[in-house]
Amino acid sequence: MRWHKSNERQTIITIDGPAGSGKSTVCKEIAKKLGLIYIDSGAIYRAIAYALWNTEQITTDCNGKWFPKITYGTLSELPLKFEAKIGSIEIYFKGNILASEIRTPEISMLTSRLSKLKPIRDFANEIQRKIASKGSSIVDGRDAATVVFPDACLKIYLTASPEIRASRRLEEYKSRGVNVTFEQVLDEIKQRDLNDTSREHAPLKIAENAVIVDTSSKTIHQVVDYIIKLAKEQC
Ligand code: DC
Repeated sequence: MRWHKSNERQTIITIDGPAGSGKSTVCKEIAKKLGLIYIDSGAIYRAIAYALWNTEQITTDCNGKWFPKITYGTLSELPLKFEAKIGSIEIYFKGNILASEIRTPEISMLTSRLSKLKPIRDFANEIQRKIASKGSSIVDGRDAATVVFPDACLKIYLTASPEIRASRRLEEYKSRGVNVTFEQVLDEIKQRDLNDTSREHAPLKIAENAVIVDTSSKTIHQVVDYIIKLAKEQC
């Protein structure tokens, strides 16, 4: 892998794919091994949704659907701060670090709905590009290869069956003490897949030159080693 001087373009690896495909585990591991900044774009979207909800900028329409009263201008005034680190990202809301509060089923569903909106996508894209300008990065995304970083040196599309993804998410919820059933998580995964693939702005889709990796029957180590091998060849 070629290391870039500060006046050159940074190395960017994008890992796109649906919820529960293993992106965050794979990205964290690769970031640690290669010393890359880890851009967790889902956490950025979640933090925006959390901040809008907690600053009471979400209202409901007559059908009970949530929508925010916001524009791009008001988003930049949200009390959020993003700090990129090697292998992690720290997000602060009103000076307090955000952790499990952005990963509840309610915030997951709210984020999935809000992430359809163009001002929110534009704002989240700008945050990701600003973080990536600080150093070589690996991006955990949905449209990282197609929209945010089209010039990335390596584009991976990670996937797995909905059932495998739901059982991984269930374990994650259980480890955080969230009480949900497999069926609820599977429904959530299917609903989020539908939201992610059918939205008008930057839907989840496979970039033309992406390498597709199905993680259903692979270990994390196999996936990580394969992607590192590709990164060494291509970046
Ligand atoms: O990866 P995640 O589960 O933390 O993502 C949370 C939600 O944010 C998910 O429903 C889709 C949305 N999202 C998005 O639209 N674009 C991204 N680049 C990342 C996440």
